[in-house]
Amino acid sequence: MKLEVRAAIPSDIPILMQLERLDGYRWDADQHAKEITAASNRYFVGSEGDEIVAFSILQNVGSSNRCIRIRRIIAKPPGRGDGSRFLQSSLAICFDELGAHRVELLVHLRNERARRVYARAGFVEEGTLRDLHRNDDGSFVSMRIMSLLQPDWAAS
Ligand SMILES: CC(C)(COP(=O)(O)OP(=O)(O)OC[C@H]1O[C@@H](n2cnc3c(N)ncnc32)[C@H](O)[C@@H]1OP(=O)(O)O)[C@@H](O)C(=O)NCCC(=O)NCCS
Repeated sequence: MKLEVRAAIPSDIPILMQLERLDGYRWDADQHAKEITAASNRYFVGSEGDEIVAFSILQNVGSSNRCIRIRRIIAKPPGRGDGSRFLQSSLAICFDELGAHRVELLVHLRNERARRVYARAGFVEEGTLRDLHRNDDGSFVSMRIMSLLQPDWAAS
């Protein structure tokens, strides 16, 4: 089925929270309500029919350095190719509509599925940010930083 992509609206937030909780992300409704209305953020959802199956959160939109960060991207169920298609739609929005020169993201070192999807889309690994994130149990997690530049996107 075709994946329809549109800007999210605040009434989508409960569904987005259900999707992200399946993966252990923990923003509450108040934080989403704040983030979805922030001028430098954009939320997008991907739907199949009436069902939202994917969403992304973009940050730093409109920054002078034209660097957009994909803060979150989730597709359910994983492994059907929806995540890759939705990533392509999100990238088209970043580069073609929002004027990004660089799109970057952080991915957990252990998240091989996501890393593969990003690498296949042309993202380049730039290094490891050591012990960047602190879990609720006090342990630290290192993240891989990856980016895609507009000229590489345009040439692909
Ligand atoms: C990351 C995500 C958006 C990718 O979407 P998706 O629909 O699963 O991606 P696709 O089906 O297009 O591709 C999955 C790729 O990972 C591979 N893969 C699937 N399961 C895997 C696993 N357990 N380990 C390693 N690779 C795996 C597939 O083979 C495929 O790669 P290939 O096309 O090179 O063979 C989605 O899996 C997701 O929402 N994951 C949970 C949230 C998350 O991790 N978000 C990213 C945070 S940075």
